Amino acid sequence: MSQILKGKKGIISGALNNMSIAWKVAERAAEEGAEIVLTNAPIAMRMGEINGLAEKINAPIIPADATNEADLENLFDKSVEHFGGKVDFVLHSIGMSPNVRKGKHYTDLNYEWYKQSMDVSAVSLHKMLAMAYKKDALNEWGSVVALSYIAAQRTFPDYSDMADAKALLESIARSFGYHYGAAKKVRINTISQSPTVTTAGSGVKGFDGFISFADEMSPLGNADALACADYCIALFSDLTRMVTMQNLFHDGGFSSTGVTPQVIDRFTK
Ligand SMILES: NC(=O)c1ccc[n+]([C@@H]2O[C@H](COP(=O)([O-])OP(=O)(O)OC[C@H]3O[C@@H](n4cnc5c(N)ncnc54)[C@H](O)[C@@H]3O)[C@@H](O)[C@H]2O)c1
Repeated sequence: MSQILKGKKGIISGALNNMSIAWKVAERAAEEGAEIVLTNAPIAMRMGEINGLAEKINAPIIPADATNEADLENLFDKSVEHFGGKVDFVLHSIGMSPNVRKGKHYTDLNYEWYKQSMDVSAVSLHKMLAMAYKKDALNEWGSVVALSYIAAQRTFPDYSDMADAKALLESIARSFGYHYGAAKKVRINTISQSPTVTTAGSGVKGFDGFISFADEMSPLGNADALACADYCIALFSDLTRMVTMQNLFHDGGFSSTGVTPQVIDRFTK
């Protein structure tokens, strides 16, 4: 490996099990020479799989519910203490919708759950950034990446209120990206990832069929979690230091493809 992140220190949220995108990012970042702090919601701690990752990459785990400002304050305080200095990169890899989980149709949402979807999946990015900003916990030219999905731009009906959450997430990355960039040269981007087989991904109705459809609609095929991790590493590195406030499609070309012969063939009598 090139050790492209040698000397960098990063916080990685969202590693639940070895299918999680964040899990692959943590492994790749460690391979590239970064020091890592892992974080996840207390409920993920109870599932316990994150301990194996922590051991493998020699990273402490600092539990934090990303909707809870006191937890986030503790996360940044303890991380800076552990690293003996400020943080260079942060991965926001957090998403959850009670409406999707419980099969609520988009035309009949439970609005308490809707607020939870927004808070967990989008506002948590704002809370993380606001806490880091207040505490001045990120180094200049630091890089924050959050994971999004193309339902923010185009309708995928079964993605339900997660589409609204992703639109908000991408907007927060742009808006905070301006302020953090101007004040501290910190950059903030979202990666809009192909559908990927993970615990969160599989919660979406008809996910198996959909993942095959996306694969056939992408000239390079679907991007998998490892390829997504590689893209995150590139964005954490200094080689992308002038990239900020962007939503970057990482989808094998899906977002620019109108139709493919494979899909047409299915409808040709
Ligand atoms: N899997 C896909 O198809 C796909 C596609 C595009 C984008 N994404 C996004 O990638 C990100 C990671 O998801 P994944 O697919 O790796 O699934 P995952 O289920 O492995 O990860 C989701 C994580 O969110 C964490 N989380 C939930 N509530 C939290 C809270 N209150 N505080 C802190 N953490 C909390 C979970 O514990 C879990 O680790 C999500 O933002 C997801 O929307 C996924």
